[in-house]
Amino acid sequence: MSRFRVGYDNEGYYLEDTYSRQHPLRVNFSHPEFLARLRGAGKKSELVARAVKAGAGVRVLDCTAGLARDSFVLASLGCEVTLVERSRVVSTLLLDGLKRARRVPELVAAANRIKLTNADSLSLMAQGDLECDVIYIDPMFPEKQGAAAVRGPMQHLQRFLGTDEDAMALLSVALQSGCGRVVLKRPPQSEWLSPVAPTHVFKNKNSRYEVFAR
Ligand SMILES: C[S@@+](CC[C@H](N)C(=O)[O-])C[C@H]1O[C@@H](n2cnc3c(N)ncnc32)[C@H](O)[C@@H]1O
Repeated sequence: MSRFRVGYDNEGYYLEDTYSRQHPLRVNFSHPEFLARLRGAGKKSELVARAVKAGAGVRVLDCTAGLARDSFVLASLGCEVTLVERSRVVSTLLLDGLKRARRVPELVAAANRIKLTNADSLSLMAQGDLECDVIYIDPMFPEKQGAAAVRGPMQHLQRFLGTDEDAMALLSVALQSGCGRVVLKRPPQSEWLSPVAPTHVFKNKNSRYEVFAR
């Protein structure tokens, strides 16, 4: 039997890690912790919003959708988001989570500003016909042990997908795309991926946002 199993029940799709006692992974934008983040999210208080310069009508291409929590925050602040996710399983969870969010009055406006594509962003960007104001890249961080380990749903995702090895290639294609703003999220103490210095850096104890603006 394989370690990971996709299932469906009355709460929607989930991904189960049969080697772990963790709850199955679901995309649930109505989770109380996430709702609390959304209610407190402001253009100044959320680092991702500051890095992206979030606002009404700002078109964001999120090349590494994952659980789309960053993008949902951006959409709640008025951004029009295109999510790109290459994993079929993660895309299924995401589509399901977005469908359920559209039935929740508090979430429907943000959910309606989000589109999802199941594809590899490298190929999509290489085709060159994506119009956006900001490209957002948040590759999977390498798994850490002990106190530095990520917890909860992101740990589950990390175990399922492993590390994203093409972060450098994504950044390089994004920087050559002509898009006016590229934002890369990285662990706070990690090495710099780009040979070009970012124009701004926003940092907290969990993440570093490198902004490359024209
Ligand atoms: C760390 S997660 C993103 C988390 C997300 N920002 C959030 O707030 O939940 C990275 C995701 O990017 C996806 N990914 C990595 N490289 C990709 C690529 N070239 N094209 C599409 N998706 C990619 C991975 O499959 C993974 O689901």
